[in-house]
Amino acid sequence: MERTYIMVKPDGVQRGLVGEIIKRFEAKGFKLVALKLTAPGKAHLEKHYADLKEKKFFPGLIQYMTSGPVVAMVWAGKGVVKSGRVLLGETNPLASLPGTIRGDFAIDIGRNICHGSDSVESAEHEIALWFPEGVQAFDRAVDAWIYE
Ligand code: TYD
Repeated sequence: MERTYIMVKPDGVQRGLVGEIIKRFEAKGFKLVALKLTAPGKAHLEKHYADLKEKKFFPGLIQYMTSGPVVAMVWAGKGVVKSGRVLLGETNPLASLPGTIRGDFAIDIGRNICHGSDSVESAEHEIALWFPEGVQAFDRAVDAWIYE
């Protein structure tokens, strides 16, 4: 089953939006296979955002991401990478539609409360980076009512 890496960023944790974000992924029918509250260091975040290291906003991004704990999660399901990005909304919250997480709860691009992998390949890379211990495999009874 396809998997994606979803993270509630420090502002999302501070603002008490962890449950709201989990609720939306659960309600959609996706399966939670890993979750932890963690405070990543600078070096770890520089790996996570390695493709952005030449960007002007990179130092500010790393500073913001190390400002408090994050909630790291792996979600599984059919089309979960693309669908997860739809649930999150656009990178810029002001361009995100109401009904999306960023559209409903955020304003500034540098405080956009959540992260979602942008491809199946980057999802697997990010899952390995954030969950080197591996993730849980389990059967879920409700799947027969979600998938035809
Ligand atoms: P990016 O990977 O382009 O977006 P997304 O998180 O939607 O995959 O950028 C990573 C994060 O960098 C983004 O969530 C917020 C931050 N960022 C800025 O602070 N300023 C910017 O101009 C951009 C493009 C991103």
